[in-house]
Amino acid sequence: MTGFAARLPVTMIGRLLGLPEADDDYMLEWGEAAAPLLDPGLSWPVYRRAQVALRGLNEYLTAHFARVRANPDAEDPFALLAASGELSDRELVTNAALLIGAGFETTVNLIGNGIVALLEHPDQLERLRAEPELWPNAVEEILRYSSPVQRTARVAREAGEIEGFAFAEGTVISLLLAGANRDPAVFADPHVFDVARPEAKRNVAFGYGIHACIGAALARMEGVVALSALFERYPNLALDGRGTHRGLSTLYGWAHLPARLA
Ligand code: HEM
Repeated sequence: MTGFAARLPVTMIGRLLGLPEADDDYMLEWGEAAAPLLDPGLSWPVYRRAQVALRGLNEYLTAHFARVRANPDAEDPFALLAASGELSDRELVTNAALLIGAGFETTVNLIGNGIVALLEHPDQLERLRAEPELWPNAVEEILRYSSPVQRTARVAREAGEIEGFAFAEGTVISLLLAGANRDPAVFADPHVFDVARPEAKRNVAFGYGIHACIGAALARMEGVVALSALFERYPNLALDGRGTHRGLSTLYGWAHLPARLA
């Protein structure tokens, strides 16, 4: 996971934000420590570790933007934004931190979950070898079948009732995206992994409506590039024993995934 799956997402977001490559590993450590914050019911030590990591990131980004503001690189859109003075320091840092958290703690799971789904379904991998034009649809199917973000939430602006569930104004409602992605009313044989599934794109792995993921197009592209390149470069790639799951409830993915390349 850290040797391959995390590299492309961290590179994309790091360079997009104009952060130096030498700091990628620091970003990965920060992301790993902060990811449990999306889950309810954290233990105190996990919460404390996330808090310390966020404080570190806050200091790091504040110093970074102060530096680039003084001397902006014309090729770096975030540096130009910092120099323009349009956003306050706090707005810059919180938006950059959101992009870091949302931008690679999710995509790393798409790549890891895709590796496992394809190795567990060799007939599907064979099909992709024969019909590489199916890769974008295969990534939709991976998003549907092993959704990297299992749920999102909304706050009810008014009282209401949906499918017999009554709720008051202000209720926080947790929505199981991964459950919707196995809805038999939408997906025929929903538990079957099929890279050519015609309705795969109807998944809600990136959410829905006003808060739908702003990075969906980038993540889809990263999924296609990373997975197709990996399986082309290492046609005999195989899992080497069981991996370790991240053990989170909102983000669904692997912490370690030992594999043999040849
Ligand atoms: C496979 C990768 C990804 C998955 C599965 C994913 C999934 C999601 C989901 C489920 C949401 C909540 C949507 C909702 O509640 O309706 C979301 C929001 C968001 N995502 Fe992603 N995401 C991914 C990659 C990315 C990337 C690469 C970026 C940034 C470049 C990004 C940035 C964001 C942001 C900023 C939001 C908040 C949008 C808002 O609240 O208005 N995500 N994502």
